[in-house]
Amino acid sequence: MKVSVKVPATTANIGPGFDCMGMALPIYNTVTIEETVLPGTGVEINIISESDAVSDISLEHIPQDENSLVYKAVELLYNSIGQTPGELKITIKSEIPVARGLGSSASVIIGALMAANELLGRPADEVALLSIACELEGHPDNITPAYIGGLVISSQEEDGTVVYRKLDWPQNWAITVCVPDFELSTDIARSVLPKEVPMKDAIFNIKRMAMFVQAVHTQDEELMKLALQDKLHQPYRMKLIQGLENIIDNLKHIESVLGCVISGAGSSILVISKKNELDKIKTIVKETWADQNIKCDLKTLSVEETGARIVSNDD
Ligand code: HSE
Repeated sequence: MKVSVKVPATTANIGPGFDCMGMALPIYNTVTIEETVLPGTGVEINIISESDAVSDISLEHIPQDENSLVYKAVELLYNSIGQTPGELKITIKSEIPVARGLGSSASVIIGALMAANELLGRPADEVALLSIACELEGHPDNITPAYIGGLVISSQEEDGTVVYRKLDWPQNWAITVCVPDFELSTDIARSVLPKEVPMKDAIFNIKRMAMFVQAVHTQDEELMKLALQDKLHQPYRMKLIQGLENIIDNLKHIESVLGCVISGAGSSILVISKKNELDKIKTIVKETWADQNIKCDLKTLSVEETGARIVSNDD
């Protein structure tokens, strides 16, 4: 039996929503798991890059054995019903650039869990799948939208369950994803964050998060400009993303720009704007990075509303 699952990329944080807000984007990884019949062959993992980003996605640092995230996800699901995985062939067709803050690890975890769940006859429900996925990833902000699609606020509660709600993204706001040709690992991007933050910074973010929800709900552009600010992660990560400060500065005077934020842990950047000055925005980002010898791939994308889905299931 063979199961394939197609999972969207995601952007997380989106300004004030550190570790709790994310959005699915129409770029995909497809995870296929096949039970093989040859005993003793163990697990075989193949990764095929289909990325059209400026630089080839770097796959060499992704383990292709039992240490890989995809295998760990499969193993956790089997273990949760008292089994261990047998001979499996796992293939990942990857369009999502790695280590660019676009949820490639969340997509692989969700793809592996859903495919393994299907192979096992669906022992795990949504609650169990999300709980295992967040345990592996460490936070739910990429995992939940990768699974259900859309713009989502989510929280993993103390008992492991994930509580989430979808918000409707205004159709007249554009999301431009700017992917530079350099990587930034989430581990490094998290290592620069402080263990504690000043109370005034926490209050700043609580206000921004409330503004964000209301701004999206009422399509309030002025409120959104205030909402897309953050003091919990962006100031600490600024130095890790070359050119970001200049890009933010250079976009400040463009009336249609509502905000420019780090996508997840970086290195990609999101520009959220009205739809009338997209070419101008792209030129500014491209030229600012080019001045620093950085190439980039820029795409204005819509929100992916479907989330992960099984695309083939051959007995
Ligand atoms: N919320 C996470 C972070 C997303 O910013 O570190 C990346 O996994």
